[in-house]
Amino acid sequence: MNDEVKLLFQPLQTKKLDLSNRIVMAPMTRAFSPRGIPTKEVAAYYKRRAENEVGLIITEGTAINHPAASSDPGVPFFYGEEALQGWSKVAKAVHEVGGKIIPQLWHVGIQRPVGSMPFPHANPISPSGITSTGEKVAGPMTPEEIETIIGAYAQAAVDAKRIGFDGIELHGAHGYLIDQFFWDATNKRMDKYGGNLAERTRFAVEVITACRKAVGPDFPIVFRFSQWKIGAYNEKLAKTPAELEQFLTPLSEAGVDIFHASTRRFWEPEFADSELNLAGWTKKWTGKPTITVGSIGLDDVFAPGVQAKNAPLTALFEKLERQEFDLVAIGRALLVDPTWASKLHTGKTNEMIPYTPEALKTLF
Ligand SMILES: Cc1cc2nc3c(=O)[nH]c(=O)nc-3n(C[C@H](O)[C@H](O)[C@H](O)COP(=O)(O)O)c2cc1C
Repeated sequence: MNDEVKLLFQPLQTKKLDLSNRIVMAPMTRAFSPRGIPTKEVAAYYKRRAENEVGLIITEGTAINHPAASSDPGVPFFYGEEALQGWSKVAKAVHEVGGKIIPQLWHVGIQRPVGSMPFPHANPISPSGITSTGEKVAGPMTPEEIETIIGAYAQAAVDAKRIGFDGIELHGAHGYLIDQFFWDATNKRMDKYGGNLAERTRFAVEVITACRKAVGPDFPIVFRFSQWKIGAYNEKLAKTPAELEQFLTPLSEAGVDIFHASTRRFWEPEFADSELNLAGWTKKWTGKPTITVGSIGLDDVFAPGVQAKNAPLTALFEKLERQEFDLVAIGRALLVDPTWASKLHTGKTNEMIPYTPEALKTLF
């Protein structure tokens, strides 16, 4: 193994989470949990990645306890006895082979088309009831609804701890509910949940605070955020480093342990006049460990036609060497190849499975 590859296989000790290496499985929706219940195939799927040297698994987005949290009947619930039993088996399977795993807690907000499964009668909710294009779909969330949703996140966090997970990730990215509060296109509120970018973090701050209070001081909370949104790839919440600091500071102070800065191409500098990517800036401003992500090991982002060739990791190693970030999340490459990390470790990169339509047909 060359010295560069070793960078990815160094252990990481954080205040609350010790990891055997720097490789993280990015959260990826699979919708293969009928009636919202994770099956033994789901457990085997995550275990396969853990036994092949993925240091930390972040599960697919899993719905918190609210009927409008998801819009797909195959997306797993993170509530109810049956689903939580399924999840506890997933965590156990990963732990059996020495892995670590955290669930990604998710509410889609206004991205839920009216009438969608699994609960067609549940109306979408969002800060202002409008989509990013200004279409009015519902009323703004009431204070009671806000309280209910915050309570649902906190309950999911407690359940994650109780059934043996190693932490939680809050999905605050990609234009879903928490991000709908961050984004001025979807948050037009005039109350304490609206205002400037720092003020629009209030909902997330209350979610983080409630989760922290519910799980105690030692349970890791990872927070995923992004500048880009589904359907608005060039959007930027923070247009300058200073705005990013204003955005991150309240989240960090509320109790986030690790930030997961979701970008589509990890090599792109986030702002002019610095090489730092979004995870790099996040580490700089918060002093907390960060996860980078975005076309690592592949030659470009997800695009129609679904092709990406395996790509060298040279740029990643340079950034790791400079300790720009601490952890590296791999999405599509680990989706098509559960042995991606161990192939990297043993120098079998030429055997990695490329991201092609054929590979996507036989996911395991
Ligand atoms: C099939 C698929 C499903 C995804 N589902 C989620 C999800 O549930 N939650 C999330 O935060 N990101 C999701 N993402 C985004 C990935 O976590 C990751 O950020 C993205 O794929 C970029 O990483 P990559 O270039 O290594 O694939 C998904 C991506 C893919 C390809």
